[in-house]
Amino acid sequence: MKILAFNGSPRRNGNTATLLDQAIAGAQERGAEVERFDLYTLQFSGCVSCFSCKRLDRERPIVCVVKDDLQPVLEKVRSADAICIATPVYYGSETASTRALIERLCFPYLNYADYTKSHFPRRIPVGLIYTMNIPQERVEAMGYDVTFGRTRSTLAREFGACEIVMACNTTQYDDYSKYEANATPESKKAYRDAHFAEDCEKARMLGTQLANGKLAG
Ligand SMILES: Cc1cc2nc3c(=O)[nH]c(=O)nc-3n(C[C@H](O)[C@H](O)[C@H](O)COP(=O)(O)O)c2cc1C
Repeated sequence: MKILAFNGSPRRNGNTATLLDQAIAGAQERGAEVERFDLYTLQFSGCVSCFSCKRLDRERPIVCVVKDDLQPVLEKVRSADAICIATPVYYGSETASTRALIERLCFPYLNYADYTKSHFPRRIPVGLIYTMNIPQERVEAMGYDVTFGRTRSTLAREFGACEIVMACNTTQYDDYSKYEANATPESKKAYRDAHFAEDCEKARMLGTQLANGKLAG
């Protein structure tokens, strides 16, 4: 069982990486071999719309032909048994590097002749982890559930069942007294103390489920 884990945050030890590492630990406890990629250490772009992956004279499945640091990673997806993508929310969506990954990962497997059939030859589970500053009760009001749901549908169509874990109202600074913020250090700490361990546990469970090859939801 091989799982590929992607950290879509520029911070290699931030909230997103912490949850992703919990998912990795959960998967490893079940005997999975996990490789983590920090997207911001790789030089790559999003889809360049060359449509090489849509040419009829190419044998499928095709991995994106753009040659950069992401291409060997996309090659590894061919033999992966599960994928886990973790991202902070930036301006209501995934980070730029996470979006670029999703474009390059999914588009070659998108069957333009029949959207109901993926070119990816197997069904594998996908974990999706989001961390964000807004509190849980604002997720729907801000329409984040719709955005996350759209990404879930994209991944589910090409790969298989996709489950989301979220951590809200995350801590952004070590010392809130030194930075602009719309919350007090005390309120941030209180929220983290009350919720972050639970969020980490959900991520760990997600990793366990990915290693088991199936998702609960
Ligand atoms: C450029 C930027 C944009 C952000 N936009 C949002 C946003 O739209 N909504 C939100 O809830 N949090 C937003 N945040 C906060 C991060 O999503 C949040 O702090 C996240 O947990 C950071 O993850 P990290 O610690 O892994 O970097 C933004 C942060 C940055 C740096």
